[in-house]
Amino acid sequence: MGPDALALVPAAPEHTRNGDAGYAYRADSDLLYLTGHTEPDALAVISTASEQDFVLFLRPRDAFAETWSGRRLGLEGAVARLGAAAAHPFDEWEALLPAMLADVGTLYVKLGAQPAFDQKLVALLGAMRSRAKWKGHPPGRIEDLGEPLHELRLFKSDAELALLERAAHVTDLAHRACMSELRPGMKEYELQATLEYQFRKHGCEPGYVPIVAADANATVLHYHQGRDALVNGGLVLIDAGAEHEGYTADVTRTLPVGGAFSAAQRDVYDLVLKAQAAALALCKPGSTIPQIHAETSRVLAQGLIDLGLLTGDVDEVLREGKQRRYYMHGTNHYLGLDVHDVGRYGHKGKPRPLEPGMVITVEPGLYVPQEGVVGPEALRGVGVRIEDDVLITASGHRNLTAATPKAREEIEARCAR
Ligand code: GLY
Ligand code: MN
Ligand code: MN
Repeated sequence: MGPDALALVPAAPEHTRNGDAGYAYRADSDLLYLTGHTEPDALAVISTASEQDFVLFLRPRDAFAETWSGRRLGLEGAVARLGAAAAHPFDEWEALLPAMLADVGTLYVKLGAQPAFDQKLVALLGAMRSRAKWKGHPPGRIEDLGEPLHELRLFKSDAELALLERAAHVTDLAHRACMSELRPGMKEYELQATLEYQFRKHGCEPGYVPIVAADANATVLHYHQGRDALVNGGLVLIDAGAEHEGYTADVTRTLPVGGAFSAAQRDVYDLVLKAQAAALALCKPGSTIPQIHAETSRVLAQGLIDLGLLTGDVDEVLREGKQRRYYMHGTNHYLGLDVHDVGRYGHKGKPRPLEPGMVITVEPGLYVPQEGVVGPEALRGVGVRIEDDVLITASGHRNLTAATPKAREEIEARCAR
């Protein structure tokens, strides 16, 4: 931020699910990253303009309210446990902020992220402008907090990596449990229960709503209905990651129901695994995400031609983007506190090279629609994705989710037991 600057980071609002029942509360990742605070109704003020470098507005202790909705950290807790220089009741932020903002050089805020907060802030800046000038001017500049903050979040510290490794380990336990419990006739939601049981049994929760998709359901990328039966000889795609202390893994495996891939399923599985190997080989400093995607798309496009799903030569297929009919999403995204984590992917159309400390997913897939495609009947409705999470290192990468089986023979053996 530089000197003479001040950043404002509000907590995420609570949301009602229905009636008087709320959704489980999840802290805003920026606030969590900077402060460790996990309660709603909070505003962090981070300052290089004042001795008080971290001031937290939060819910004060309140015996009556805590009887209904749980213990609060409270003002003393913010100082003792989070290291705040000072703490104030949340409902005083609009009254106290003008004095903190007076004559500050630069205000950092993520405008647009929380319109209700923005509105109050703008009104407050307006009031500062129209009051007696000896009380101080509003900040001279307003900058996007996302720029410096998300650059920090993009590069994981050792402490963050330890949390991600724990998330990856619990994710591995959950995927393995699915492999051993998988039986023809099970419902998709039963495997979802297995995943969530393992996550919660180990103190985690799902980092995103798990996808458990039988057969052609796997060709719906964000499939969440989850009430169909697993058919012997079919496939099930499982995309699920545990979140530990806010950090989530993001892992996909595609399993044969009954324990053996058919010839057609095997062809698709092997092709996706081959594309993932090609992508992983490029996961190193200097590579760019569009470059990895182009190489992955090339392997998949050639495979699609070989399988009879596309015609023409590979350069022509890629030039016309015909492979997108079967591979319509990207190969990588950043991963961390958010499953689709923050950080710039490039600037003014120029992609950004990977650097040590970044964590990305590697997730090629192929999704053959049931209708309107050429090629062998047996391939229709087959959907396969294989997804791992890797840390970029100085010499290449470290696969954080390598423990979760993906070799075809091993997957078959585990699912057949
Ligand atoms: N689970 C969401 C994704 O793979 O990006
Ligand atoms: Mn992903
Ligand atoms: Mn995923």
